[in-house]
Amino acid sequence: MLLEIKNLSKTYRSPDGGDAVDVLRGVDLSVAVGETVAIVGPSGSGKSTVLNIVGALDRADAGEVLVDGRDVEKLGEADVAAYRSATVGFIFQLHHLLPQCTVLENVLVPTLAQPGGDRAALRERAKTLLEAVGLAHRTGHRPGQLSGGERQRVAVARALINQPKLLLADEPTGALDRVNAGRLVDLLVEMNRAQGVAVIMVTHAPELAARMGRVVELMDGKLAEVRR
Ligand SMILES: Nc1ncnc2c1ncn2[C@@H]1O[C@H](COP(=O)(O)OP(=O)(O)OP(=O)(O)O)[C@@H](O)[C@H]1O
Ligand SMILES: [Mg+2]
Repeated sequence: MLLEIKNLSKTYRSPDGGDAVDVLRGVDLSVAVGETVAIVGPSGSGKSTVLNIVGALDRADAGEVLVDGRDVEKLGEADVAAYRSATVGFIFQLHHLLPQCTVLENVLVPTLAQPGGDRAALRERAKTLLEAVGLAHRTGHRPGQLSGGERQRVAVARALINQPKLLLADEPTGALDRVNAGRLVDLLVEMNRAQGVAVIMVTHAPELAARMGRVVELMDGKLAEVRR
């Protein structure tokens, strides 16, 4: 298994001393190498919390997250940085591209965390990815000169630059219209096939969730398989 989540629990204590919220109450999920999984569920059910814990952006209170057999919660500081930049790739609802950088430079941002890489080879890979996402003719543009759909496609290329094994996409189509949302999910499926990267996508749209190999639903703090 690429990812094994076992009995994950997370409680948020309210800052004003009010009631604590048990967001995750024993979540289990296994994802195989190269699989695609949609996470659906009501707003506030903890979908982003799960993704953030898997991506080592947040910590669980109990349970285990194993990626490639390594316990994410036990990574040291240096290993966590390498994990976030190379083992997983992130795509969020908003692209978070750097406005002053070109499209090509934005795609290369995650490579800056690891000095000593072959810069020329990385630029070539960035160009190949931009071609794959249909933006070969936009490499010198700034994000402000792109459409919303194009910006999200740059974010996909950026998420894949370090050849992650797992792509974590939190409502990547949330800011897109229907047509562009469909195109972005097509692209994720294509990248899954071409690069062998496993994809976990959170979405509210059933027709987009249906494009993933499996659908799981988060409700009342637990994950249940909806379709296998
Ligand atoms: N840092 C935090 N401090 C306190 N409570 C939080 C924090 N982050 C999230 N929560 C609470 O945890 C619950 C789950 O949040 P989460 O963002 O994971 O939900 P979600 O399923 O992604 O929702 P949505 O579909 O609206 O994005 C919510 O009730 C939220 O208010
Ligand atoms: Mg969310």
